[in-house]
Amino acid sequence: MNLVKAIKRKKELSAVSDAFVHKEIDAYIKRHPKVVLSNPRSKEFKAAVKDIRSRLRKVYGLFRGSSKVLKNLSQEEQIIVEILNSHSSTRERLPYYKELYTKIFNLTGKPKKLLDIGCGVNPFSLQFMECKPEYYAYDLSKEEIGAVNKYFSLVKVKGRASVKDVLTIKRFPIVDVAFIWKMTDMFDLKKGHKKTEEVLTKIKAKHLVVSFATQTMSGKQMNVPRRPWFERMCKRLNWQFTILEFPNELFYIVEC
Ligand SMILES: C[S@@+](CC[C@H](N)C(=O)[O-])C[C@H]1O[C@@H](n2cnc3c(N)ncnc32)[C@H](O)[C@@H]1O
Repeated sequence: MNLVKAIKRKKELSAVSDAFVHKEIDAYIKRHPKVVLSNPRSKEFKAAVKDIRSRLRKVYGLFRGSSKVLKNLSQEEQIIVEILNSHSSTRERLPYYKELYTKIFNLTGKPKKLLDIGCGVNPFSLQFMECKPEYYAYDLSKEEIGAVNKYFSLVKVKGRASVKDVLTIKRFPIVDVAFIWKMTDMFDLKKGHKKTEEVLTKIKAKHLVVSFATQTMSGKQMNVPRRPWFERMCKRLNWQFTILEFPNELFYIVEC
């Protein structure tokens, strides 16, 4: 029996798309590069099935108090989950988006205005926020920004998504909270963290929420997930921060 079939043999996972199961298998192999999955009777094969099923349950268990809830999922909600599933960062957050926003907004207050730079498809997670801020989002991807704007008008969110290189923006909209999620590596392509500092100090927000991956590219957990350089920078700029830890991602909630 192949791995996809074996994983989907559980009733509650039988409707998960093969493509998504394949994605999870690829991620598992990345995390366990030496694993051999050719023999369905082997311990390794069974361990992989167990691990991948548990991951799928977390992601697909999102709206599932019971299968009844899932059946009641509106078409729009299903589309949003599909979109959030399309990027690795948003896919990882699916099981805990609601908890993440509750914890962030407990610290910052619910924002009236929100900025999301290098947003990817993160604005589609708006439904987990339990508030409807005016939302300003930037990214390089025309396709994604187009979709985000359609979504904003569909759910009647004020604000706008724009196709822009954030490194070239001189003035950002003044907001309550700004998300800079998994972006610093994109800014600091050269040695040092000057570009990140340049961008962060340009943002006019009461709170910055800056996130970092806590897994290496090969899928291993980092030994030191915290970013000392970032903490030093906050100290120098006299910014207080609180850390929120989630699987695979660390969030610094910075008071400016
Ligand atoms: C790792 S993804 C993070 C997406 C999102 N922040 C999240 O965590 O869900 C990086 C995103 O930043 C965008 N990006 C990279 N450099 C950028 C730049 N200079 N200006 C605007 N967007 C940028 C990419 O197109 C991509 O969508």
